[in-house]
Amino acid sequence: MGFLEIKDLSISYSQTAVVRNISFSLDEGETLGIAGESGCGKSTVAKAILGILPESAKVEGSIKYRGKELVGMTEKEFERLRGSEISMVFQDPSTALNPVRKIKHQFYDIFGTNRRGRKAADGEIIHFLTHAHITDPKSMLDSYPSQLSGGMKQRVVIAMAISKEPRLIIADEPTSALDAEIRLQIIDELVSLKERLGFGMIYISHNLAELSKTADSIIIMKSGMVVEQGKTAELFSNPRAPYTRELIAAAK
Ligand SMILES: Nc1ncnc2c1ncn2[C@@H]1O[C@H](COP(=O)(O)OP(=O)(O)OP(=O)(O)O)[C@@H](O)[C@H]1O
Ligand SMILES: [Mg+2]
Repeated sequence: MGFLEIKDLSISYSQTAVVRNISFSLDEGETLGIAGESGCGKSTVAKAILGILPESAKVEGSIKYRGKELVGMTEKEFERLRGSEISMVFQDPSTALNPVRKIKHQFYDIFGTNRRGRKAADGEIIHFLTHAHITDPKSMLDSYPSQLSGGMKQRVVIAMAISKEPRLIIADEPTSALDAEIRLQIIDELVSLKERLGFGMIYISHNLAELSKTADSIIIMKSGMVVEQGKTAELFSNPRAPYTRELIAAAK
């Protein structure tokens, strides 16, 4: 049984195909990079895996997660999967967090913590914040996201994403809203977390240079299609599609 196997996946909005017949697979604990120009369908694929596409999206083909078919699954079934099996780190941490709710309360929501369980939950939250390299996790508990820098917010989002110990994390351009310097830190942190915790990852980025640091293999998308896929080192040393060469040249 494979870990994640996507076969002939097509997604359309009112007859317009935005993802066309793509196939790829991911082994447990591996990182797959997805690159391609804006609008090529990267986030659409990510949302399909997580079951968070709008109702208007028509999904065809197959997404198998550890043998279970996700296409056509009910919202209730997806709820059981989200967070605890598959979770996501979005592009903009400001929209992922409620700006006026304390960090600890946003974790309680994820854990479903009741009033009496809060003391115990705080210990766990501190554990995950520490994992995400937050240096003063105790004082972070009572902070509001609006008091934090972009990099700090993204660290909190990452701590939330790992807090139910998922096996797969989908990071959709997790650094694009951050300053260049913070970007590298966040990439390093995701990579080292992955090494320590052993989750698999789908890492989406415009920037192939970022994927060279994170991904074991890469798929290149254009206009909803996969134009090339391969192991990271091979793809860089021997790109076949002209579009891949363009992306590599742009990343230098
Ligand atoms: N709810 C929607 N209704 C109609 N079309 C949509 C909807 N959401 C996305 N699309 C279209 O689907 C295509 C793929 O969008 P998607 O967000 O997956 O691109 P992307 O590769 O993630 O781009 P970016 O790099 O800018 O994030 C785009 O043409 C977009 O306009
Ligand atoms: Mg996107």
